[in-house]
Amino acid sequence: VTPRKMSFGINGKLNGLESKTPFLIGVSGGTASGKSTVCKRIMEKLGQVDMDHMQRQVVCISQDSFYRDLSPAEKLKAEKGQYNFDHPDAFDNDLILQTLQDILAGVKCEIPAYDYRTNSLMKDQITTIYPADVVLFEGILVFYFPKIRDLFHMKLFVDTDSDTRLARRVPRDIKERGRDLDYVLNQYMNFVKPAFEEFCLPTKKFADVIIPRGADNTVAIDLIVHHIWDILRLKKAENSSRQHPYIYQHRLA
Ligand code: ADP
Ligand code: C5P
Ligand code: MG
Repeated sequence: VTPRKMSFGINGKLNGLESKTPFLIGVSGGTASGKSTVCKRIMEKLGQVDMDHMQRQVVCISQDSFYRDLSPAEKLKAEKGQYNFDHPDAFDNDLILQTLQDILAGVKCEIPAYDYRTNSLMKDQITTIYPADVVLFEGILVFYFPKIRDLFHMKLFVDTDSDTRLARRVPRDIKERGRDLDYVLNQYMNFVKPAFEEFCLPTKKFADVIIPRGADNTVAIDLIVHHIWDILRLKKAENSSRQHPYIYQHRLA
């Protein structure tokens, strides 16, 4: 993967000939199905993880970066495990739509990280998303709203059975998200499981590719990685033909 030279105009839009629409991939699936891990594996296999943001050709964004700010009353509820983070309205869906539209238009975006320990966005930890060739957008409800769903060029659904997901969510939330066992199990029974069945699982039918067993499924991940390589190769050829139209026409002649 070769580094690209890019120049930005006012509002972060790529200047002139280099402007392009990225290939947008949605990755959904229930909680702890392995969405984040699958995206990490894809990025690793493409050699994109330790790359400078400006040179990266593939970027990954999490839907969790779009959780709504909570009011003080909602914060208290969240601390007691009584707030529903699995409902479609928990996200700022207008901002998701606007951000994905900006990404597709080649506009530079700034996306905060999410802190599950404080249930809030970390506005001091911003990732700048420079126009890339391929963008992965992963989250439990990325296929829920048709306007957002329709923006994806490819839709993946990570399909891991519910007991495996619960068995993975419990230790993850205790170790990484600052929760205790009672909190995790109550939240799971009251909100996570019912919302998965009502809002997330019905969106599986919109997927182009279903990945059984998540990150264990190296065959599926390799197929997707090869597909992304093909897209990157095509984009590279398109870009160089735009930058050197004479040479391209000459070669075609
Ligand atoms: P999601 O983003 O869908 O919620 P994660 O990728 O965070 O899922 O995975 C949930 C938890 O399970 C994490 O702690 C992760 O390290 C672990 N995990 C993911 N895939 C596997 C796997 N194939 N085998 C074992 N543990 C896994
Ligand atoms: O990575 P994963 O898909 O599991 O992230 C989504 C999950 O994070 C949701 O199921 C939601 O219950 C949980 N969550 C949480 N606390 C927050 C925000 C999200 O437990 N503050
Ligand atoms: Mg995740």
